[in-house]
Amino acid sequence: MKLSASDFIQRKGVKPIPMLTAYTCPVARGIEEAGVPVILVGDTVGMVEMGFDSTRDVTIEHMEYHIGAVRRGAKETHIIGDLPYLTDANPEIALASAKRLMAAGADSIKLEGGKLDVIEHLVANGIPVVGHTGLTPQTAESFKKVGNTSEDAQRIIDEALAIQEAGAFMLVIEHVPAALGLTITQSLRIPTIGIGAGPDCDGQVLVVNDAMGLGDYWPPFSKQYAHASKIILKVAKEFAAEVETMEFPNNILQFTGTGRR
Ligand code: KIV
Ligand code: NA
Repeated sequence: MKLSASDFIQRKGVKPIPMLTAYTCPVARGIEEAGVPVILVGDTVGMVEMGFDSTRDVTIEHMEYHIGAVRRGAKETHIIGDLPYLTDANPEIALASAKRLMAAGADSIKLEGGKLDVIEHLVANGIPVVGHTGLTPQTAESFKKVGNTSEDAQRIIDEALAIQEAGAFMLVIEHVPAALGLTITQSLRIPTIGIGAGPDCDGQVLVVNDAMGLGDYWPPFSKQYAHASKIILKVAKEFAAEVETMEFPNNILQFTGTGRR
């Protein structure tokens, strides 16, 4: 059953929340089947699926395409759609952008940083909002950990509180010291979802390609539960070799089926 914004708030302090990103239908289908209650269609799609160097290259059209694919794979799961760079530049632009992502299949919208007027405007127009503080890749100069000095930590705490007061129902905290993840989590009534923010957040999110080992770079805080890139290499090598020797399709011994798994 699809969880709502208030379901996630009620879960704070009760049960940790697992979240994964997804960008495609089959991956979304697997995540839903596993019972993961929330999928983020992140603008990381630009880096991990599209090969850009930055999330700043992602457009609203890219997000609509991927949100649609994820929704078709995960019909009963809460989907958060990321507002790409500059599509939340002011409250009016953000509302128009958010409506497009909701129409594509999102249940809520995430945006980076302390754009309080934008968050308030979206919430006032019935759009559930997820905040994102700590490292905010759309505007960051590097992917290094932030919040290391007491001034920067305080800035992030203040921003987290302000995002909550503006009406967000959940907050992603990216790449900060574990102690800061704990402090923010204890200070808020909405759930925090950490990525490289220590073990004390109310939930954890990973970029699914990182978790699957699909790619060639992993952030230090991620964990590879599989090595999908190695599987692709193996499949492609074996297939190519079998075509060259004409083993495939001549000797198909294994019934591969035509229906669903
Ligand atoms: O775009 C994304 O995948 C994200 C997560 C890293 C939180 O914003
Ligand atoms: Na993002």
